[in-house]
Amino acid sequence: MQLRSIKGVDLSGKRVLLRADLNVPLKSGKIQDDTRIQAVLPTVKHCLEQGAKLIIMTHLGRPKGKHLEALKTDVIAEALEERLNCAVSKVDGCVEDFVTEAAASLGNGEILLLENTRFYPEEKKNDAAFAEKLASLADLYVNDAFGAVHRAHASTHGVTQYLPSYAGLLMEREVEVLAKVLESPRKPVCLIVGGAKIDTKIGVLKRFLELADSFLIGGALANTFLAAEGFDVGDSLYQEDKIEIARDFLLSAERKREFVYLPLDLIVADEISNDALALDIKPEGVEGAMKILDIGTLSIDVFKRAIAEAGTVIWNGPMGLYEFTPFEAGTREIAKAIAESNADSIVGGGDSIDALKKFGHSEKDFTHVSTGGGAMLELLEGKMLPALEVLKR
Ligand code: 3PG
Repeated sequence: MQLRSIKGVDLSGKRVLLRADLNVPLKSGKIQDDTRIQAVLPTVKHCLEQGAKLIIMTHLGRPKGKHLEALKTDVIAEALEERLNCAVSKVDGCVEDFVTEAAASLGNGEILLLENTRFYPEEKKNDAAFAEKLASLADLYVNDAFGAVHRAHASTHGVTQYLPSYAGLLMEREVEVLAKVLESPRKPVCLIVGGAKIDTKIGVLKRFLELADSFLIGGALANTFLAAEGFDVGDSLYQEDKIEIARDFLLSAERKREFVYLPLDLIVADEISNDALALDIKPEGVEGAMKILDIGTLSIDVFKRAIAEAGTVIWNGPMGLYEFTPFEAGTREIAKAIAESNADSIVGGGDSIDALKKFGHSEKDFTHVSTGGGAMLELLEGKMLPALEVLKR
């Protein structure tokens, strides 16, 4: 996939409207993980070094078209200032007259950060007038928001109708790495999926029937698959209405003689807490009030062996409720096995990235840590990504 690259474009003295995905996890107003901020810095620095007047915009959370104090981008402005060691002016709007004035008075190499684009209902509606107003702030547009590339919103899609538009450095790298996985991965390919819901993962699972040699399934997702195999999952989280989908997938994989590894043993408990009494049992033993909260030690060994044999490993979604000590081992050990393997390793999804950090890994331990959760899955699934289509050469 060839994108129009920002590299080589003369940005000197130009007003550049940069769409980033700085949708970072927040807790009591503090940024919990700055992966997405770090990831956009190369593009920001590139623009500044070229002498651009930089106007950055992002969404933050899902405020549903309302101005919410807790989701203002001020905290992002501070984080950018710290990491870039330069001033970042923040305006409390995106398209008002005072924003136009602030953008017009920017000097070369200066940065202006707009308010959360999703404070405006027009953003998600991909409203043309709103997109045109955003575009009127700048001379050209750069999209580096890989994590939002599956969204056809005014700031990711509509705006490209009104400005020369390019892909940023992060966008290019994400697309390049993920496209390589689809086109010429090192074999054998092992896809590891966890997390809660089958809906967001089933597309990738089906697409990878053509590409993967093995599938490792954990998390609450595995509970739906275990239920499809006829096991009682007790009081565990699972999707009863998706059992048929899970069954179809297992049958298709069997026909293709691909290996689908479901957990052979499970960590169960009656309560979710750090002091919970956790047992490691076989799926046959699950019943009543038991909740399946992680994969067991035998499963960890089997999953680790599959990872060690793989040429490419793609991982999205934790193996269990890793936030709680009794249920963290599955996710911790899988992360470690991937980090230690010689395979090309690609990790994506907010929870998986959070888990990597929690268990002391750095991005350098993996070939690529994607800033996209849903976007990565949809790209791997082969879906058309609207905000990417408009950046194609
Ligand atoms: C993400 O966190 O996956 C992206 O920022 C997109 O956010 P959204 O799912 O709220 O559109």
